[in-house]
Amino acid sequence: MEVDPGTALREIDSQIARCKRCKLGMGGAHPVPGSGNPHASIMFVGEAPGFYEDQAGLPFVGPAGKLLDGLLEVAGLSRKDVFITNVVKHRPPANRDPEPDELEACDDFLRAQIAAIKPQVIVTLGRFSLSKFFPNVRAMRDVHGRALPTSDGLTICAMYHPAAALHQNSLRAVLEQDFRALPMILARAQSQPATPVTVAQAALPGVETPPEQMSLF
Ligand code: URA
Repeated sequence: MEVDPGTALREIDSQIARCKRCKLGMGGAHPVPGSGNPHASIMFVGEAPGFYEDQAGLPFVGPAGKLLDGLLEVAGLSRKDVFITNVVKHRPPANRDPEPDELEACDDFLRAQIAAIKPQVIVTLGRFSLSKFFPNVRAMRDVHGRALPTSDGLTICAMYHPAAALHQNSLRAVLEQDFRALPMILARAQSQPATPVTVAQAALPGVETPPEQMSLF
């Protein structure tokens, strides 16, 4: 019997709340499992919670989140239409980059969220998120805004991280352009079966390949 996506997500949330698989879960950070529509066609995957997200227990509620809200509007979307989460579900201290063991500790949760929601399109925000699906892509500038089908029938759409545009204003226009194309990417993903591209081997939720660092956000 199919489990209702909302029920499945609540179970994943409670597992995240109890998780002690890495030092982030064992520290004082609050769990930030993700939020939004359990029936969403589009899922956004960021990097890790920051200060504001840790306080609220919700993803993207700080300055990068405000920017993300504006970008969703550009795509004709709002938070109630989509599901938003991060590759890492607890805040790394002082907002440092997530470490390999922390990224790995959260893999099963992201995989389970994808399996529960079954989105047609996953928008990766930043390099940590993209490398979960395409570990061998080296530069965001080569792939952002493109639909990248995986062998599992998912369509990944790589985007710069909104926080990057807070530091580098020229990226805001790039992000807006990429978000404007999202409805078309979703419509295509819904109408055509995904044909895998060759840029890299997909890692999540299928075969695992060791992640490689990319040069940019
Ligand atoms: N940056 C992220 O990657 N995720 C958040 O939830 C907030 C900021």
